[in-house]
Amino acid sequence: MKWVLGIESSCDDTSVALVNDVGRVLMTLTASQDLAHQPFGGVVPEIAGRSHMESLVPLIDELFRRSNVLWDDISAIAVTNRPGLVGSLIVGLVTAKTLAFVHKKPLIGVHHIEGHVVSAFLYNDEETPRVLWQQPYISLVVSGGHTQLYYIPSPGTYELLGKTQDDAAGEAFDKFAKILGLGYPGGVQVDRLAKAGDRQRFDFPRAMIKEKNFHFSFSGLKASAQRWVIQHGMHHAVSDVCASYQEAIVDVLIAKLEKAITFKNVKHFTVAGGVSANSRLRERVIELAQKKKLECIVPPLKYCTDNAAMIAYAGGVRVARGEISDYSLKPIARVDL
Ligand code: KG4
Ligand code: ZN
Repeated sequence: MKWVLGIESSCDDTSVALVNDVGRVLMTLTASQDLAHQPFGGVVPEIAGRSHMESLVPLIDELFRRSNVLWDDISAIAVTNRPGLVGSLIVGLVTAKTLAFVHKKPLIGVHHIEGHVVSAFLYNDEETPRVLWQQPYISLVVSGGHTQLYYIPSPGTYELLGKTQDDAAGEAFDKFAKILGLGYPGGVQVDRLAKAGDRQRFDFPRAMIKEKNFHFSFSGLKASAQRWVIQHGMHHAVSDVCASYQEAIVDVLIAKLEKAITFKNVKHFTVAGGVSANSRLRERVIELAQKKKLECIVPPLKYCTDNAAMIAYAGGVRVARGEISDYSLKPIARVDL
């Protein structure tokens, strides 16, 4: 069996993985930097870069030791080269290039969002294999840095239908959590508190929900939450305010997703990225699929947030198609898929 080595270091998770060319994950190891960034309430780029440098090579060493995979079993090295924090991307890129050079392996640069899209098709050996869907499908990618809706007519072709005009959905969760003093990253905390809350109690804005496009806007929501806290105080009905705020985000995501599905008349869709770990969003996605008799995949929690398995798979599919990056592969801070 041949494995693609994946390396992900675009933001605040250092991750390495071994995945084959049909998406079977042998092993993923991830070093989270949450504790290092927590005192600052958000990702500090310099700390992120330094932490990747400390963790990445030891993590690769551990991956090979624990999996018993040898360099002869490696078919390619896939690394996230765009978009992301440049100082963080560079750590992954230099490491991947050096290993590719020393071990004479093909190198492939991967777009982080393509990784999130294909994360829906990853599987472990105890599960039923799921090959990449050949049918056209819609993919909603919602993370701390991105909120994008794609139409994918065939594997590897991405038509961007809409994206956020300001903050990403994950950012809306994180900034709200920061206002409430819930810690970083805040999405999980809001999700947890919202479970006991009343989603109807407070009315937060659903920006652009009625507009005939597929774009999103979340910055007004954050401002209205700030006003709410000033008016009502911090400790008043935290669960209700979390549930109401979360519902506003989820309502907009589901409305735009449904609109895109209807517009493209597809029967399949996926939702991926860190925010797809949100329990209310997962519930509403299943409801939508049942209502419209559609097939959908939301990855298991471990593949929702940043991980190298999705990068290895996306890169492996491209290498199998004959694509290879050269050693001048550069980090790119911002670029659409
Ligand atoms: O995909 P990801 O790990 O990193 C980026 O590419 O940005 O996503 C991280 C984001 C953070 O904003 C985090 O708060 C959010 O995903 N997140 C959640 C949940 N788990 C993670 N948001 C809402 N509910 C969750 N359960
Ligand atoms: Zn991500």
